[in-house]
Amino acid sequence: MKITVIGAGNMGAAFVKQLTRAGHQVSVTARDSAKAAQVAAANPGAKAVPAAGSVEGADAIVLATGYADAAGALRGAGDVAGKVVIDITNPLTADYMGLTLGHATSAAEEIAKAVPGAEVVKAFNTVFAQVLGEGADFGGGRKVEVFVASDSERAKSAARAIAESMGFAVVDAGPLKNARYLEPVAGLNIYLGYGAGLGTAIAPVWIRKA
Ligand SMILES: NC(=O)c1ccc[n+]([C@@H]2O[C@H](COP(=O)([O-])OP(=O)(O)OC[C@H]3O[C@@H](n4cnc5c(N)ncnc54)[C@H](OP(=O)(O)O)[C@@H]3O)[C@@H](O)[C@H]2O)c1
Repeated sequence: MKITVIGAGNMGAAFVKQLTRAGHQVSVTARDSAKAAQVAAANPGAKAVPAAGSVEGADAIVLATGYADAAGALRGAGDVAGKVVIDITNPLTADYMGLTLGHATSAAEEIAKAVPGAEVVKAFNTVFAQVLGEGADFGGGRKVEVFVASDSERAKSAARAIAESMGFAVVDAGPLKNARYLEPVAGLNIYLGYGAGLGTAIAPVWIRKA
């Protein structure tokens, strides 16, 4: 697939690494073009592109900025009407130990409202950058799960295909409004990783008795 990654930080860099390895055609754009160039240089096959027009021709867009920058970054990337936008953001407080919104809305729904026409799918927000960068295989047949929530079946299928191409298992988490559940799961993951000291080589999975 042709995929544009917006943001070249922890998550953006890990996406570029795993997406190129999975054989996708990856473009990366960042506020600081030097950072995008650095990430592209580290991943043969990826290319750094300017923000404007970076989503042209893309089958999917990975939105890998902080939540506060997300809608602005998407608008600055070109015409996203009808485009699949994978929202990985968590609306975190400054100390990372809380969420700035929830219950009655979610980051994903707010982004979808702010950029009408984009087909937004919540996914990967419960996957730490370390886990994404190192890969989905936790050994012993255990795979990290990606929870996908969207009102667009096309967006959900694209997110599923992308996650599976990188070796992740996928859980269909229903409509976009279920991002209201997924974002707090990420909050718990962050608490366990940093607050409780388990580290960032952890991931939430849902198990079902055979
Ligand atoms: N880190 C994790 O383990 C993790 C896990 C799951 C989900 N998430 C979510 O994923 C998102 C990214 O997290 P991160 O850890 O990768 O953060 P990060 O390292 O701070 O990276 C965010 C990147 O987005 C860039 N950016 C900001 N505005 C932009 C714009 N308008 N256009 C293009 N790029 C822009 C930033 O540029 P500058 O460098 O210029 O500021 C920065 O490089 C967050 O919403 C976070 O909640 C993170």
